[in-house]
Amino acid sequence: EQNERDSQFIITDFANKHFQQNLHSHEQGNIGQAYLKERGLSAAIIKKFELGYSLDAWSDLTDAALKAGFKQQYLEATGLAIVKDDKRYDRFRGRVMFPIHNVSGRVVGFGARTLKSNDKKSPKYLNSPESEIYHKSNVLYGLYQARQAMRMQDMCYLVEGYLDVLSLHQGGIDNVVASSGTSLTDGQIKLIGRYTQHITVLYDGDAAGIKASLRGIDLILENGLNVNVVTFPEGEDPDSYIHKVGDTAFKGYVQQQAQDFISFKASLYAADTKDNPVKKAEAIREIVSSIAKIPDSIKRSVFFRSCSLIFDIDEQVLVSEYNKMQLQDR
Ligand code: CTP
Ligand code: MN
Ligand code: MN
Ligand code: MN
Ligand code: MN
Repeated sequence: EQNERDSQFIITDFANKHFQQNLHSHEQGNIGQAYLKERGLSAAIIKKFELGYSLDAWSDLTDAALKAGFKQQYLEATGLAIVKDDKRYDRFRGRVMFPIHNVSGRVVGFGARTLKSNDKKSPKYLNSPESEIYHKSNVLYGLYQARQAMRMQDMCYLVEGYLDVLSLHQGGIDNVVASSGTSLTDGQIKLIGRYTQHITVLYDGDAAGIKASLRGIDLILENGLNVNVVTFPEGEDPDSYIHKVGDTAFKGYVQQQAQDFISFKASLYAADTKDNPVKKAEAIREIVSSIAKIPDSIKRSVFFRSCSLIFDIDEQVLVSEYNKMQLQDR
């Protein structure tokens, strides 16, 4: 209902301003400032992305909101406050706050990072829960700030995390978004598709990142968009890597390493497939299953051709394997 949504937008906006005020003007704010500085973020980026800080206190935001005349009801509906056994307290405490904007620039929720580097008791990131105004599967972190660059450059970099988005922006790469709080969804790809048909996946250089890339590739292809992939050295993510090598080298790396999904999958299985016909067959089948996701038949045939060249295998064999898959899927 419209009133409910409006009230949620208004209190989320209040919270966003409050968290920023904490970061910039409260005596505890210097803790958050120090953390962001240590992460290499500039004052300009902190301002552009409206980063904030939630005080290390039980009900700083709740108290301020109630005092300002807001209703407890909306603090709960947006997940900013939690009620448990008759006790009310702030969900986000002692964390750096990343407001998440919708495409019109209104704040719909927050990501929040603990400042502690290895505290097993509390999760590294907390996120706002789903609400009337925050549907995670249809929101991309950074889209509001990236959308013009995505259109201008006709390409979108897709990363895993908040810090990746921020560090790339700071390095001069503005067309970057993250699917935060959820794994990549159809809705998020369609959202990107409003601005560009080209996505380059820049996921973390670890097993989870590779796995998410494979899933992301199929989802992107299924939605009719084009996908390239850049992999990072083990243990690096775009944020850590751009700080390690510098902006210029990072851009060069991304340019050089970007490969289409066939080469990416081929190189992923390359170690196994060498001199091993069974593994090679598995790799080819894997790639054909991705090609099968592409709705456009002309694009499919271009990729069959490219796959046949890479693996030195008859194109017709690939096509008939594809046909077999189509029959099985029905
Ligand atoms: N994430 C989350 N909850 C967690 C861990 C991760 O929601 N407990 C989400 C966050 O959006 C995070 C992204 O997944 O940004 C990627 O996770 P990870 O690579 O672990 O974090 P980084 O963004 O690299 O965080 P940092 O560099 O701050 O350690
Ligand atoms: Mn930097
Ligand atoms: Mn990771
Ligand atoms: Mn990461
Ligand atoms: Mn990181």
